[in-house]
Parts: sequence; C-alpha cells; structure tokens
Amino acid sequence: MKRLLTGLQSSGTLHIGNYFGALKPFLDTYQNHESFLMVADYHSLTSLKDPALVRASIENVVLDYLAVGVDLDNATIFQQSQVHEHTELAWIFECLVTVPFLMQSHAYKDKVAKGLEANAGLFNYPMLMAADILLYDAEVVPVGEDQRQHIEYAREAANKFNNAYGETFKEPQGMILEGTGVVPGVDGKKMSKSYGNTIPLFGTKEEITKAVLSIVTDSDGDIPTNVYTIHKLFKTEAELAPMYEENKGKYKASKDALIEDIENFVAPMRARRLELAAQKDLIKNVLAQGSEKARAIAQAKMLDVRSKVGITL
Ligand code: ADP
Ligand code: TRP
Repeated sequence: MKRLLTGLQSSGTLHIGNYFGALKPFLDTYQNHESFLMVADYHSLTSLKDPALVRASIENVVLDYLAVGVDLDNATIFQQSQVHEHTELAWIFECLVTVPFLMQSHAYKDKVAKGLEANAGLFNYPMLMAADILLYDAEVVPVGEDQRQHIEYAREAANKFNNAYGETFKEPQGMILEGTGVVPGVDGKKMSKSYGNTIPLFGTKEEITKAVLSIVTDSDGDIPTNVYTIHKLFKTEAELAPMYEENKGKYKASKDALIEDIENFVAPMRARRLELAAQKDLIKNVLAQGSEKARAIAQAKMLDVRSKVGITL
C-alpha cells in the first residue's frame, strides 16, 4: 500500500462546503493507503497567538475527523509538534532554498494581502510542509486546489536535497481532491467561513434551519437554484425531481425538505462529536499513540539525513 499523508491546519468551524469539497473525497480514499493525518499545529502558530485557541484548535481537528468517520484502525492521527524532526528537517530545507524562490508563494502573498502578519514562519511555511511530507516518503498527498503550489515546493525541496547529498527523498504526488466542485453558500456565492454564508457541518437543528431559510431564492423561475444545488449533495436528482416538480413556485416547501435531509445527515455526526468530546483523555491518547508511530518513521529518516549533511560525527 502506498503511504498517504495530509495535514490539517485548523481553521474554524467546518461547513458543508468543507465536507463535500475536501473531507468526503479524503474519506473515500484514505482506506486504500497507509494513511497519516497530521494536525499541523506548528503551521497554525503562523496565525494563532492565543494559547487557549491553539489548544482548542488542535482538539477540534481531532474531534472533527473522528466525528466524520475516520477509522483509527486504518489511519494514524498525529500532532506535528510532537515529532520534533519536522522543524529540524524544515531548517535543513530552508538552508537549501533561496528567499526569491520562497517569495513566489501565492499562499504567502494572499495571506499577507488579507492582513495576516508577514512573520518569518509564514514565509517559511512551505519548507515545514515539505518536511511534513518528505519525512514519511509519502507518495500520495490529498489536498485542495489551493495547496497545489505547496506540493511543488515539497518536490523542489526533495530535488534540491537529492542533488546536493544524493538520493534520499521521494518526490511526492499531489492528489488534488476532486470534490463536488464549489458548494454555494446561502447567498449563492462560494460557501466560505470568510463570507459568513455557511451551513455548519455540526450545526444544531435550529442553526441548520436558520441557515436554510436564509438561502437566497431567485425571484423568477420555478426551481430555486441555490436550494436545489445544495439539495443535490444529499439526494440524487432522480429522488429530487418529483418533489421539486410538485413544489414548483413553493420555495418554503423545498426548503423544509432540505432542512430535513441535512438534519438526517448531520444528526449522527453531531451526536458522535458530542460523545467523543465527552470522553476524557480521548484526544490526548489518540495523538500520543499516533505521534509515537509517526515519530519512529521520522526518526529513522532523520538519522540518514543528519549523516548525509555531515552533522553526525
Ligand atoms: P473556507 O473557504 O471556509 O475558509 P477553507 O479554505 O478552510 O474554507 O477550505 C478547507 C477545504 O474545504 C479546502 O480544501 C477547500 O477546497 C474546501 N472547501 C471550502 N469551501 C468550499 C466550497 N464552498 N465548496 C467546495 N469545497 C470547499
Ligand atoms: N497547508 C495545508 C493547508 O493549509 C496543511 C498542511 C500542513 C498539509 N502540512 C501538510 C497538507 C502536509 C498536506 C501535507 O491545508
């Protein structure tokens, strides 16, 4: 089985766009690989400065993944900062790549343009991510489209190292997740936490109802496009057709049906998340076990790397 690794930097409350765009395609593939899911807590320090928030975000990522059904018999969930080799290897890569090369990063420029502090960690972000991937010889790296360039950076880091010190790292392949395309938000624009137009994945029935009732419906036409596009994520077109035909012009009825379908889908995951959150030490234990497994692989790799660069006497 090929090794798969992906990293999750916590970024607030998940919405159904995240689920169908990123989580679902991941859930569909991870069991066919030897899978590692990393909580990228050091990456999150590039933007989060409040220790309580950092802690909560680590816990939330683990709960989210377990709640949507990641099976620990088929995946290792671990915490980046618990495997010190990540920052160590990142440093070695930083000494191999140039500042102008890192300056080409779209993610860095976008984040700074959005007002994030241009700290050196944010600038070096791609080399830490390269270390995350290359330490494990991960061949499959499922990520969203926005991470394509980061995979290129990882390939280049592998290349630079191999050229300087001899064949050591495998060049990873990105696996750009083909999700359901862009899930629209309640205003018809891309659903995004930055636009405040989301339907939360673990929302209560009240929150789901409120969000669905606020979906903008087109004033002409019999079928409310936005409602229908979201509804298609939960039911087949064949199932939906008769209902929308019957509800022609009656937007409220279609929305009520959508609320019902989202609620049926979300309720078990929401309940599971609550149940998991109540289990004392669950998150700590999952991360401790996972990090131990990851560490063994990373440590073996770093013995070779240290020797090759000449720091082992
Ligand atoms: P947001 O836009 O809410 O900030 P993120 O940028 O954190 O979401 O996205 C996390 C993952 O979810 C990405 O891989 C992205 O491709 C996916 N995603 C986010 N919003 C949508 C959407 N509206 N439709 C489909 N996929 C999405
Ligand atoms: N940069 C990724 C994101 O924002 C998270 C990440 C960190 C990652 N390290 C990784 C993804 C390694 C894949 C592999 O989504």
